[in-house]
Amino acid sequence: MSMNKSHIPSAQKKVITMLIDDHREAQKLFKEFKSAKDNNRKAEIVRQACAALTAHTGVEEKHFYPFLRGADPKTFGSLLDEAKVEHASAKELIAQLEEMQPNENLYDAYFTVLGEYTNHHITEEEDELFPKVIEKDLDLRELEKPMQETKEELMAQKA
Ligand SMILES: [Fe+2]
Ligand SMILES: [Fe+2]
Repeated sequence: MSMNKSHIPSAQKKVITMLIDDHREAQKLFKEFKSAKDNNRKAEIVRQACAALTAHTGVEEKHFYPFLRGADPKTFGSLLDEAKVEHASAKELIAQLEEMQPNENLYDAYFTVLGEYTNHHITEEEDELFPKVIEKDLDLRELEKPMQETKEELMAQKA
């Protein structure tokens, strides 16, 4: 879960760095939630985290995952299938949280479990998926611009 960004070759560097930065941002929000003192702050953190995760998973599903599957289905197929199922679980929790108020029963539990799922998924991407992309030396540079654009679109929708 602590992939070192400085050792990524240039053909993968920008895209993988973008994804890792998103991961760190999400992890920071889950951590902050633990020490949040009042419900307004909790709601703000949950709103930010849900928006960021929705944009991040959207970018991966629209660009990154299909590109990998197309480039090398044998290497990436089953990892990407798992990733899809993990994203779907996260989306269900996000949908629940978006309907809830911080004073409700199970609100903290929903967000905590979302954090646990997210950390698990991040570990799989950073320990298994990204190293394989680097090992196969896939040139991701054509994804840089579309990924950035989709991220901005998705973040704007949530704002
Ligand atoms: Fe990711
Ligand atoms: Fe993902």
